[in-house]
Amino acid sequence: MPADYEDPLGPEPDAEYPTVDAARYRSVLGHFATGVTVITAIDPDGDEPVGLAANSFTSVSLDPPLVAFCAAYSSSTWPRIERARKFCVNILGESQEELCRVMATKGADKFGGVGWTASINGSPVLDGALAWVDCTIDAEHDAGDHVIVVGRVHDLGLEEEGRPLLFFRGGYGRFDA
Ligand SMILES: Cc1cc2nc3c(=O)[nH]c(=O)nc-3n(C[C@H](O)[C@H](O)[C@H](O)COP(=O)(O)O)c2cc1C
Repeated sequence: MPADYEDPLGPEPDAEYPTVDAARYRSVLGHFATGVTVITAIDPDGDEPVGLAANSFTSVSLDPPLVAFCAAYSSSTWPRIERARKFCVNILGESQEELCRVMATKGADKFGGVGWTASINGSPVLDGALAWVDCTIDAEHDAGDHVIVVGRVHDLGLEEEGRPLLFFRGGYGRFDA
């Protein structure tokens, strides 16, 4: 951040705003179509693979190379990724909807029958993913009921030719162009 950076929004305004309805928030924000990723790591406690589906993934900075995603504090997988201090972002292909559903299910046997290889960091690169981005945790920023996780990219690659799995208005879709 430049030393002379000033937040253009200024300090928190005093004005009172109406409460944002949760259902309306979900509905409106659900109109932002995204890809879908699975964030994976090896939990150092037990040395086992862990993962969670995330569509909040975004690229952040090229120099240095940074990416980010948001993890819910309610997630039981996030603390295990946090313990690992490193993770791999797997960008899902259109045939991986079922895998995504499993990775979004609390308490599921998420890696039963899932093939993967280890990244240079040791994090799981899932078979069939379109692309992957291997990171260490660079920073965490508290953001309401989520934490914004910034990852420092150390390695990345393309695994498959193919089209992405998309998420829009609460449902899965395909890229048709
Ligand atoms: C398409 C999709 C996108 C999701 N994106 C996120 C996300 O960005 N961050 C997050 O914390 N949870 C996200 N979730 C929910 C988590 O995948 C899910 O709540 C979590 O894995 C629950 O299990 P856990 O307790 O093992 O973490 C998403 C779920 C789906 C289906």
